[in-house]
Order: sequence, then C-alpha cells, then structure tokens
Amino acid sequence: MENVKVAIIFYSMGGTNVQLAKWAAAGAEAAGAEVRIRKVQELAPDAVIENSSVWKTTVEAIKDIPVATSEDIEWADALIFSTPSRFGTMASQLKQFLDMQGGLWATGKTVNKVVSAMSSAQNPHGGQEATILSLYTSMMHWGTIIAAPGYSDAVLVKAGGNPYGTSVSVDQDGKMVEDVEDAAKFQAKRTVEIASKIKNG
Ligand SMILES: Cc1cc2nc3c(=O)[nH]c(=O)nc-3n(C[C@H](O)[C@H](O)[C@H](O)COP(=O)(O)O)c2cc1C
Repeated sequence: MENVKVAIIFYSMGGTNVQLAKWAAAGAEAAGAEVRIRKVQELAPDAVIENSSVWKTTVEAIKDIPVATSEDIEWADALIFSTPSRFGTMASQLKQFLDMQGGLWATGKTVNKVVSAMSSAQNPHGGQEATILSLYTSMMHWGTIIAAPGYSDAVLVKAGGNPYGTSVSVDQDGKMVEDVEDAAKFQAKRTVEIASKIKNG
C-alpha cells in the first residue's frame, strides 16, 4: 500500500488529539502509507492562550507540525481527522479549515477521498459520537467515502466500542481515561486499506 497518501489533520488544546493523531500516523505508516500530519490553524487570541498553561504547552509542543492547507487535502487519498468535542460538535478551528475548502469542493477535488475521524471529550457521554458525526455530515457534502471502523476488530470494543471512530474521555488533569492506542492505529490501518482499494481497484 505504498502508494496510498494519508493526511492526518487535527486540532488540540490539551494534547489529547495530538496523541490520537500520532497513533493514527503510526498505524498508517505501519500499513505502508505515506503520511502527513498537520494541525489546523489556531484561531483563539494569543491573550486567551497565554492565560492557560495547558493550552500554551500544547501550542509549544506542536509548533513544528505544519498547518494544514488545501494542498494537503488535494494530495491525500485518505483523510483522518481528530478533534476534541466542543458542546457536541467539532472544534471551530477545524470547522474553519473545512469552510476554507470551498474552492476544492467546487472543483470536485474532495470527491472519493476516504475519510475517518477520531474525537475526545471530558465525559464518556459528553459528545464523542456526535462530534464525529458532525464531521461526517460535512464529509458527505464533500462526496467522500466514510470509513467508520464499526466493530471490525476486537481492539475497537476494548477501546470503548465507538463504531463511528476512536474516541476517548479525559480526566480533570486532561489525561486520557481509556486506552485507545490500538484502536487509533487499527482505524488508520483500515482507512489505508480501504483507500488502497478505492485508488487501485
Ligand atoms: C468550549 C469547550 C466545550 C466543551 N464541551 C464539552 C462537552 O460538551 N462535553 C464534554 O464532555 N467535554 C467538553 N469539552 C472538553 C473537551 O472536549 C476536552 O477538553 C477535549 O476533548 C480534550 O482534547 P484535547 O486535549 O485534544 O484538547 C469542552 C471543552 C471546551 C473548551
């Protein structure tokens, strides 16, 4: 599956979705894909970020990861998104990135990309599934092929059994509660395999 290109695009304020994205990158690379990992542009004012040590730490930790562009979407055969829940939907920073892709969408360049998504929230029932669905709704408009993991492997059940995509809750300190590393890696591998079938027939 050497010729499958995967762009892993995330937003993260506290580091969780950075880690999910990195696990997905490892899973996609192990499956033989060429991988780009990209953050979306931060939109919050500097003064707000300055007031949060957690947020500042994340911004510093990901400073060398390039910001996602339209070219990354165009380049990729498969897209894996990772976003924290914001009241049950994707983070506005990721939505803004999607909303800037009207040009690609209008020229058919989003069609037939294989897409899969991951998420996190403070609470196990705090909107993880709804957040992924909010992303998948937009992806239907893009004409993508959604590769939700379902229950296609036992590791997904072990990770909490979210069939929409790998998701995790975080405790008061921002640490992940469930162990979802294998699920994120499996989801990425499966996304690569499906993208390979779409691309190579
Ligand atoms: C504005 C805002 C809204 C949020 N809404 C919810 C929510 O409705 N339910 C929930 O469980 N967590 C909610 N959270 C918590 C985040 O989803 C959580 O901090 C995030 O998933 C951690 O991911 P990160 O470390 O990648 O930033 C919210 C956080 C913020 C800042």
